[in-house]
Amino acid sequence: MPPKSTQRIGILTAGGDCPGLNAAIRGVSKAAMHYGMTVVGIRDGFRGLVENRTLLIDNPLVSGILTQGGTFLGSSRDRPHKMKVGGKTVDMTAEAVRTYNRLKLDCLVCLGGNGTQKSALALSQNGGINVLTLPKTIDNDVAETDITFGFDSAMAIATEAIDRLHTTATSHQRIIVCEIMGHDAGWLCLGAGIAGGADVILIPEIPYDLAAVARHLSRRHKAGKRFSIVAVAEGIVSVDEAAAREGSGKSGALRKAPSHLEAFTAPGTEGIRLVHEPVASRIARQLQSLTGTEARVTSLGHVQRGGTPTSFDRLLCTRFGTKAVELILKGRNNVMVALKGNECVPVALEKVAGRKRTVPPDHAWVQTARLTETCLGVD
Ligand code: F6P
Repeated sequence: MPPKSTQRIGILTAGGDCPGLNAAIRGVSKAAMHYGMTVVGIRDGFRGLVENRTLLIDNPLVSGILTQGGTFLGSSRDRPHKMKVGGKTVDMTAEAVRTYNRLKLDCLVCLGGNGTQKSALALSQNGGINVLTLPKTIDNDVAETDITFGFDSAMAIATEAIDRLHTTATSHQRIIVCEIMGHDAGWLCLGAGIAGGADVILIPEIPYDLAAVARHLSRRHKAGKRFSIVAVAEGIVSVDEAAAREGSGKSGALRKAPSHLEAFTAPGTEGIRLVHEPVASRIARQLQSLTGTEARVTSLGHVQRGGTPTSFDRLLCTRFGTKAVELILKGRNNVMVALKGNECVPVALEKVAGRKRTVPPDHAWVQTARLTETCLGVD
């Protein structure tokens, strides 16, 4: 029999959803119940914590959810310290802490990406509560972990899409530009681009020169290749845009989201972010005019965030979830569970929050792409 614990833990999912969230909730909940802990689910991310919207998690509730996409708890991008309330941005930390205390929690487990890491740290520092986080995002851009959960599933979806585009592109002798998510990190596009054999891969970390891309496509054409697949990350910037930003003196300019990624709002829906403007259409239009080859666009969008997690993500989420409970039992709070090598290890939240892990230009995947005749946007 395991040692019994009377601890009570809360769990919430925040930020954009991804495959594997339910698997992680299940991993945390089952391990916690194994040790006799009580688990309270918090609905819709930090907003549910502020508004005290909770449910008791029992065994039947987390049975059969390992393979399900999304999060049965619901998610939101709300931050307790900067929450939109009645059209205003308000610090709701005190309300979040009140719910934590009312539920008599010993620790709050937060599943999320970079925004969630920051919110969790702020809650522990300003609200004095115990938190523990798991790194979740299809973007794979959380610092201090080798990988985030959700990334592998999204990469599998994007890879399959690129595979499918090959057959139609070759039938019609076209350029097909495929836009892949990732915010301002190129992991998803680069990984899926290599795995799917894209001929051009454009990522935010390497500013592109479209003339160089067009030359690459023309060389392929002359070599008898009947089609080309161009994988573009949603956060790409051209060499000119990058130079303009450097010139404007903004430090870390390439780390900032480019203008087409900035959210805009429709009149009457203030406070609700609208879809980003796809960059792939612009690239396709310009490539068609530079090469004279017919081009088409596919934007994968939220398809990449839907559906069942891969076996890799199911295993990773279950390992992350169970490790979280072991750490809580040992009193290790205010940490994120990270994968380093093949080990799940705790990392202080201070080392994670506010940092973003983008693709280093000298990363092994970049070299892999170059050595397999893939154009990365420059000659
Ligand atoms: O962070 C995950 C992510 O899917 C990014 O790749 C993308 O830029 C963003 O979320 C889209 O957010 P939303 O679902 O709010 O439109």
